[in-house]
Amino acid sequence: MCGIMGYVGPNQAAPVLLDGLQRLEYRGYDSAGIAVLNSKIHVRKAEGKVDRLLELTDNSPLSGTVGIGHTRWATHGVPSDLNAHPHTDPSGSIVVVHNGIIENFYELRDQLTAEGHEFTSETDTEILAHLVARAYDGDLVAAVRDAVSQAEGAYALVVMAVHEPGKIVAVRRISPLIVGLGDGETFLASDIPAVLHRTRDFLIIEDGELVIVDENGASIETIEGAKVDREPLHVDWDAEMAEKGGYDHFMLKEIHEQPAVVTETLGGRLEEDGTAWLENVDFDDEFARNLGRIWITACGTAYNAGMVGSEIFRRLLRMPTSVEYAHEMRYADPLVSEGDLVIAISQSGETADTLAAARLAKERGARLLAVTNVVGSTLSREADDILYTRAGPEISVASTKAYMAMLIGQYLLALRLGAARGLSDPALAERVIHGLHTLPASLEELMHREAEVAEAAKRIANAQDVYYIGRGLDYAVAVEGSLKLKEISYIHAEAMPAGELKHGTLALITEDVPVIVVLTQEALYDKTVSAIQEVKARGGDVIAVAYDDDERIGRFCDTVLRIPRSNDLLGPVSAVVPLQLLAYHVARIRGNDIDQPRNLAKSVTVE
Ligand code: F6R
Repeated sequence: MCGIMGYVGPNQAAPVLLDGLQRLEYRGYDSAGIAVLNSKIHVRKAEGKVDRLLELTDNSPLSGTVGIGHTRWATHGVPSDLNAHPHTDPSGSIVVVHNGIIENFYELRDQLTAEGHEFTSETDTEILAHLVARAYDGDLVAAVRDAVSQAEGAYALVVMAVHEPGKIVAVRRISPLIVGLGDGETFLASDIPAVLHRTRDFLIIEDGELVIVDENGASIETIEGAKVDREPLHVDWDAEMAEKGGYDHFMLKEIHEQPAVVTETLGGRLEEDGTAWLENVDFDDEFARNLGRIWITACGTAYNAGMVGSEIFRRLLRMPTSVEYAHEMRYADPLVSEGDLVIAISQSGETADTLAAARLAKERGARLLAVTNVVGSTLSREADDILYTRAGPEISVASTKAYMAMLIGQYLLALRLGAARGLSDPALAERVIHGLHTLPASLEELMHREAEVAEAAKRIANAQDVYYIGRGLDYAVAVEGSLKLKEISYIHAEAMPAGELKHGTLALITEDVPVIVVLTQEALYDKTVSAIQEVKARGGDVIAVAYDDDERIGRFCDTVLRIPRSNDLLGPVSAVVPLQLLAYHVARIRGNDIDQPRNLAKSVTVE
């Protein structure tokens, strides 16, 4: 996720900006840059780490007491010196940095290009510099307002103008932005840790607000221009806590980021009528219509997301879809052929096995579509089509928000294919589209129920083995829930289709063995309840994940973790959240290293 810095004060801006950018490194980035205003706008920027930028500014120092800075995590355009922020308009009188995504980027760029504007980068950010410059007639606030009224999306924008030295104007549209109030100096940043060693007093800018920073400090307005009075927040977190946004672990922070991640993944891609606009997915309708088969290949959590995806494609498109472990597929001489679509899912885009399976599929003439979180990753460079999941960097080794974004990406893909091929059940598709739009709000609601999950965690924290069961999509979610528990609690966990229990594993169920059951699939409900009865008869402790309005479940289970009502096809998206939180709280009770579990690495680039 990009990081933003800004400084107005009596000191040299460059060292403050560079130091702030280093403190934002944990957010993940691929290039960095600063701009300092001193009668002209002077920019230094470079692909790579802040160290490279430091070398640049050492060799070619910047002097001035007002400036902005940025660490970029690529979304539009590969990581490069040119795409790094800040970006100026062609006259060099306006400079911007920006965090987030401009959803109507292509539309705006076409409009500006038709007016004769020329661009030097592939970014959506440069568009903003042009929009502000076009609107500027001596009033930076008015020009920023004008630009923001045209740019749709979730973003934070920070702007300086050569003709208004000593001033920075910034806007928050969903993406975070804070102001640090120092003694005679003011800081802007996307996150508190950037300046926590300089001040403990902050103004948290809220969605839809604009802030003007100058020698008098900071004043906040709504984007429309109404004055806002905000009491400063005094923060007494330590630096490590601040990086985690006040959460004790990155994993917990990332779980709680999921409502915002869904908004990002969907951003500008799904219309009310279900039309899915997927930039970088270039296959045409004819390809979609003639498609013979979909293959999904991935490892670990990404594979588990693929399990959900295969069911989405089957149910929405009635398409033959198989999901294959990449490390198996690459050696299995798979029957992939020309005209097939192979979807390789990988958060990092660097997993060696997934890359090998993807390459094999391409050799066999399939079209390769990457679902990945990292712009410019090896997988994205080798794919014919790319669906960026936009989850932002995931720091915890145990994946949560990246999994969520992979699910959302696959619903979008199914709708894109369905637009060309026809959807097998338009009424179901309509419920899914509506459900996707309301999903961020219901996930947000779910986050408030963490205390119940923490309570349930106590019931399984001392177990030796835990079983996860479900049918259909619930089984797919159970697999992900059990993987989370294994990874961070080190308790043996196993997921299986609920109907499989009685074919052997039931022999292991005793009163010391908790069983977690997921029940979002209406049509399979009674069948799953039969499996619960089998467990109860052997004394097993059952924890269910079920809808709020499921009144029957309390009769069969000891503990119920409730999720907001959804439709069958979207149910698993909510159901995974209590399972993530359950794993987290069990690991916490056991005192484990949650963000860096033993023996595991974030990116598995070996075979
Ligand atoms: C588990 C986890 C791993 C990864 C797997 C694939 O929480 O993160 O199972 O999902 O190693 O990684 P990517 O998605 O980067 O290909």
